[in-house]
Amino acid sequence: MSRRARGLSLPLQTARLRLRDFTTEDLDAVLAYSSDPRVTRYLFFGPRDRQSSAEYLEAMIEAQRERPRVRFELAVEQADTADLIGACDLSMIERGVFDLGYMLGAAYWGRGYATEIARALAEAAFRDLGAERVISTVDVNNRGSIHVLEKIGMRWEAVFRKHRRAKNRWWDCHLYVLPREIWESERLLSTPG
Ligand SMILES: CC(C)(COP(=O)(O)OP(=O)(O)OC[C@H]1O[C@@H](n2cnc3c(N)ncnc32)[C@H](O)[C@@H]1OP(=O)(O)O)[C@@H](O)C(=O)NCCC(=O)NCCS
Repeated sequence: MSRRARGLSLPLQTARLRLRDFTTEDLDAVLAYSSDPRVTRYLFFGPRDRQSSAEYLEAMIEAQRERPRVRFELAVEQADTADLIGACDLSMIERGVFDLGYMLGAAYWGRGYATEIARALAEAAFRDLGAERVISTVDVNNRGSIHVLEKIGMRWEAVFRKHRRAKNRWWDCHLYVLPREIWESERLLSTPG
């Protein structure tokens, strides 16, 4: 079954955050979090230096021109200060299947921001991009991120042993999934009236 997808209109606003496209001005802020080993510990890349952050930023900006656009790597800004505090992404990996992810500067952990981001990305995938399934893979030791995925209602579906080889080691990852029908039924439950 195909659903009408109206496309994502940016920025995405949440209660406290704005998820927007990156610009070339963002290099210092991107470097600040992506050069921090605490942030990249459970990510396949990094820590990144200035050169590699600049190349990454350039690639993200280039990808904004793809049509149809099916990859959204977005800057996470605090709505009240306009400070760039991290990044998130929503990418179509197969028709109807979108993968979400997020990372935040360590100073901003523990405030519920990742939960707010993940919820907004899942909502956008189902509402605007016609997703049937939203998925995320997470290192089996990344307890904080696993907790975020579970808080937004994603369900554990599998463990991939040796899912990727990166940074000189094999990575075991959990696959978490939110099927459209679960998202719809939980939305109905949380809608007043
Ligand atoms: C993972 C990450 C995004 C979480 O961001 P955050 O804004 O702190 O997340 P939230 O505050 O929304 O929720 C985190 C939850 O996990 C819990 N948590 C955090 N670290 C934990 C740990 N080591 N063990 C168990 N629970 C943990 C928090 O208490 C919180 O739960 P609560 O709301 O019930 O108290 C952030 O730590 C980060 O950017 N890490 C580096 C990048 C990364 O690993 N990204 C994910 C890749 S899959």
